[in-house]
Amino acid sequence: MFGKRGNDDGNRGVPEFRPTAPAAPPAEAVPRAAVAEAPARPAATPPSAPLAPPAPPPVTRRNVEAPPLAAEPRRGPRERSEAYYDTKSQVFSALIDTIDLSQLAKLDPESAREEIRDIVNDIIAIKNFAMSIAEQEELLDDICNDVLGYGPLEPLLARDDIADIMVNGSKNVYIEVNGKVETTGIRFRDNQQLLNICQRIVSQVGRRVDESSPICDARLPDGSRVNVIAPPLAIDGTALTIRKFKKDKLTLDQLVRFGAISPEGAEVLKIIGRVRCNVIISGGTGSGKTTLLNCLTNYIDRDERIITCEDSAELQLQQPHVVRLETRPKNLEGEGEVTMRDLVKNCLRMRPERIIVGEVRGPEVFDLLQAMNTGHDGSMGTIHSNSPRECLNRMESMIAMGGYSLPQKTVREIIVGSVDVIIQAARLRDGSRRITHVTEVVGMEGDVVITQDIVVYNIKGEDQNGRLLGEHVSTGIGRPHFWERARYFGEELRLATALEAMEKRAD
Ligand SMILES: Nc1ncnc2c1ncn2[C@@H]1O[C@H](COP(=O)(O)OP(=O)(O)OP(=O)(O)O)[C@@H](O)[C@H]1O
Ligand SMILES: [Mg+2]
Repeated sequence: MFGKRGNDDGNRGVPEFRPTAPAAPPAEAVPRAAVAEAPARPAATPPSAPLAPPAPPPVTRRNVEAPPLAAEPRRGPRERSEAYYDTKSQVFSALIDTIDLSQLAKLDPESAREEIRDIVNDIIAIKNFAMSIAEQEELLDDICNDVLGYGPLEPLLARDDIADIMVNGSKNVYIEVNGKVETTGIRFRDNQQLLNICQRIVSQVGRRVDESSPICDARLPDGSRVNVIAPPLAIDGTALTIRKFKKDKLTLDQLVRFGAISPEGAEVLKIIGRVRCNVIISGGTGSGKTTLLNCLTNYIDRDERIITCEDSAELQLQQPHVVRLETRPKNLEGEGEVTMRDLVKNCLRMRPERIIVGEVRGPEVFDLLQAMNTGHDGSMGTIHSNSPRECLNRMESMIAMGGYSLPQKTVREIIVGSVDVIIQAARLRDGSRRITHVTEVVGMEGDVVITQDIVVYNIKGEDQNGRLLGEHVSTGIGRPHFWERARYFGEELRLATALEAMEKRAD
């Protein structure tokens, strides 16, 4: 639920709305035509101004039902001057004084936008702001976004080429495009506006962000993953991070086109997905782990029962027999938390054939490993780590985090008995994302876990544009350890062909 709007602090913050399903404007709703026929537009003028309009209906500022958030892409970001922000602030204040928010809330988004446009145009005319048509259009869009949507974030949210949006306080907004982080000219009016927008986002999932609960995860209506951390924890103003949701998730074939993996390497991955190898996808932040996990799930047979456990549902499985589970944070009273571990444990009672864990971060690794070696072959998960070897170490320490005091060798045996393949994803220094290793966990020699690389990515150099050059090669192993498994599923010929092609390429 949306809290109280935040413009009662003298900052003229963005009104807080509770987005609802589009409501058909009732008969008595502020009819656009009726407003248009008014002798003078409801104006932004102070009470003493000569052009004072007829008094508008009282402005309701609390518990206002709002039209759904604006969905339309608006103009792209660009540097704006102080004067622009000053004018915008004045027009915005006048608009809020004038407009009847409760009536506006009854309109559908397009009509609401039209309504605001009309009023803002009048305000600009009355106040005699000198602006070109283009500037005026830009201001109108900005203000509509502030009132109806996520303010300055709207143009960024509308862009499909952005992977992440990172807001560090009101004045610094960064985006990641094509693997590179770049700064934008976007800024918020002030920290209060930024916090108001964060509040609006998190209240959609029934949460609140403020000094007493300054950390919050949420999701946008389009599925984008959001994290907010507010002052006093964020020292220079609220930090907001959005992982944009891609409706059309990347496929393995697209990853091949991007050079993230070679065609033969992709073929091996498809077989790994199909023949029910237990897989851990390892990689750093934003390296493409979830994308890869999603790709692999495409090769699961359609008749398998799959259960997914995620902190924030990002996977998009195409199979019909899927149960999706999501963890739940503590509520404001500090109760009701459901952890990943609870979900994974519960999964085991749901007769899963495969368990997919979006992100393994803690002791749930133990439950996942147990599932993997107790008849749930083909289970998968992702882990934050920078190499297959580090991934093995991380699993060991996560098991220790669960309070198990098992001898190191036993822990390693559990890992070796459970995990078949580790796929390493990485974001390289040129911004490209690559699969750098497809590594098998083979067994133990003494206390040491033995692995063998099936595919590795060798960096060979750099072109004149700073892009890294390299290729995926086979390491020349005769037969991978999962050969028998591939044979069982009738995939050994395909596997042999892919491995052979990879070796030829290496020669
Ligand atoms: N091979 C690729 N080429 C180009 N873009 C990619 C590739 N893999 C992933 N991406 C994009 O990179 C972004 C991050 O990917 P993803 O969410 O899979 O990373 P992650 O490792 O799961 O991140 P996190 O650690 O935050 O969970 C997404 O926008 C995704 O579409
Ligand atoms: Mg992820």
